[in-house]
Amino acid sequence: MNTRGRAARSVGPPDGLAPLQAPPLPAHDPADPVENAVIRGLSRSWPRRAAVKKKEPDLDELFDPDRDDYPESLMPFRTHPRYDALDEERRARLRAWAWIAYNKSVVDIEQYVVNPGFGVITSDVFGLGPGDTTTIGVMQAMVDEQYHTLMHQNANALTRRRRGWSLPDAVLPHGRTVRAHDAAVAAAADPRAAALVRFAYATVAETSISAYLGLLTGDERLQPVNRSTVAVHRRDELCHGSLAGELLTMVFDSLGAAERDRLLDLLAVGVDEFTASDLETWTAIVRHEAVPGGDGMMRDVAEFAANAPVVQDCSAIGRLGASLGVGADLGGRLTADRTAGSGPGA
Ligand SMILES: [Fe+2]
Ligand SMILES: [Fe+2]
Repeated sequence: MNTRGRAARSVGPPDGLAPLQAPPLPAHDPADPVENAVIRGLSRSWPRRAAVKKKEPDLDELFDPDRDDYPESLMPFRTHPRYDALDEERRARLRAWAWIAYNKSVVDIEQYVVNPGFGVITSDVFGLGPGDTTTIGVMQAMVDEQYHTLMHQNANALTRRRRGWSLPDAVLPHGRTVRAHDAAVAAAADPRAAALVRFAYATVAETSISAYLGLLTGDERLQPVNRSTVAVHRRDELCHGSLAGELLTMVFDSLGAAERDRLLDLLAVGVDEFTASDLETWTAIVRHEAVPGGDGMMRDVAEFAANAPVVQDCSAIGRLGASLGVGADLGGRLTADRTAGSGPGA
């Protein structure tokens, strides 16, 4: 493990031991049959660019109580009369809940989808025989994901403390992507089929999460802590998108026709689940807050939300499909083809 960043901010290791530094990766790893220049570049730049290697911002200093915790434009009931009728404090609580749920959804995806999906590569379920460069590149990304989990949990802890509201995670179900992922893993015929599910969902998450994070970076009225948290995370994810693309190419090339077909199906389902509005989570929030007429409000917005995906830009997965020569095939399997990219919206 490279500890240079940490050593610079601390008094150094105990007992006069020299700080540990990772050995440099070879310019070319002859033992790695899937050696890849993109992954090699990402691995080498990780100590300088990864969020986990940088100084943490002072979240308390960034918190501005007068700013919104979440953009109202992303809330499916934003124009409903029942929401309109609430006083400002109750609406502020719903915005804070939305931010808590957004963070929990990110945390759950990292913990239950992305890192298990990366684990399929490091444990070499598909027999790719990755060498040090690929394995280390994936392990660095897994460290990033663990750190992102901490960042989003810290953001939630800060919101609860500064607002003075408990807003407990236990109210919220797992997010939609995690629910669909877990059901598909449970239904898989054997461990290899389960690994294909994990890999496909992780690929969708890693190529689409930048668009999900991007939903919260452009709104000037939004809480600065929240904008900063998603912006820092997004910088890492732009690199992970490249890594996931390279891993998809490696795995796809290694599969036979039937598993390729299954992988494309899983990618398409994964995109639909990842981009959709999660009404189960919104319903849990509205019930917990005892919004008058809340169940009826959620019924009223269900049809609208079903036709208005939260993340509209899945162009990255579309480009990946095209690079594999299956762009039209993949696009045809999606419920609504957003792989051309139409920009984030609600
Ligand atoms: Fe992440
Ligand atoms: Fe990631």
